[in-house]
Amino acid sequence: MSVKRVLQYGEKSLREPSKEVHKVSKKIQELVQDLLDTMYAKNGVGMAAPQIGVNYRVFVIDVSKNDEPLNPIVFINPKIIKKSGAIVAQEGCISFPEAYTDVKRYDYVMVKALDRHGRPFVMEAKDGCLLARAIQHENDHLDGILFIDHCVNRFETDDILAKHNLPPVDADKLISEPEIDKELENKKND
Ligand code: NI
Repeated sequence: MSVKRVLQYGEKSLREPSKEVHKVSKKIQELVQDLLDTMYAKNGVGMAAPQIGVNYRVFVIDVSKNDEPLNPIVFINPKIIKKSGAIVAQEGCISFPEAYTDVKRYDYVMVKALDRHGRPFVMEAKDGCLLARAIQHENDHLDGILFIDHCVNRFETDDILAKHNLPPVDADKLISEPEIDKELENKKND
């Protein structure tokens, strides 16, 4: 279809919750294609519908490396049905150009969703791999949650955002994750 403009941090739709898809219609198929086209144009690993200003529960991911064939995965109405473990890793987002910061994530997720044809599937991603982190990152977009809400250090993140002319962290959006903190603490003591 076409490459769309990607909303930047500070734009309202990024903080709005997205609606369930009731039918994988032609309109939704076109949205999926727009997401793929836009993600590849921006060299991203993932892209969620609210990032192109469409608040539907749809995102796409492609974690294939440069020398591998494209391998897009489409998630419609995704639900994370299991999660465990913890990992800290650096993340960025196409809506935050060039800004990267350390965030806390689960290192294992199981997700169920519909594919681009409306067929249900279940997928696991383990060991804090890129796919595991991307699923959490993109799924968050559907609830108006952004990666900086998971940041390890708010002040460091503010500095990084300022350097890239982006607004500071929304202090009231920071997510408390005692489960993950506990896991990280255990890891440290191992
Ligand atoms: Ni993102």
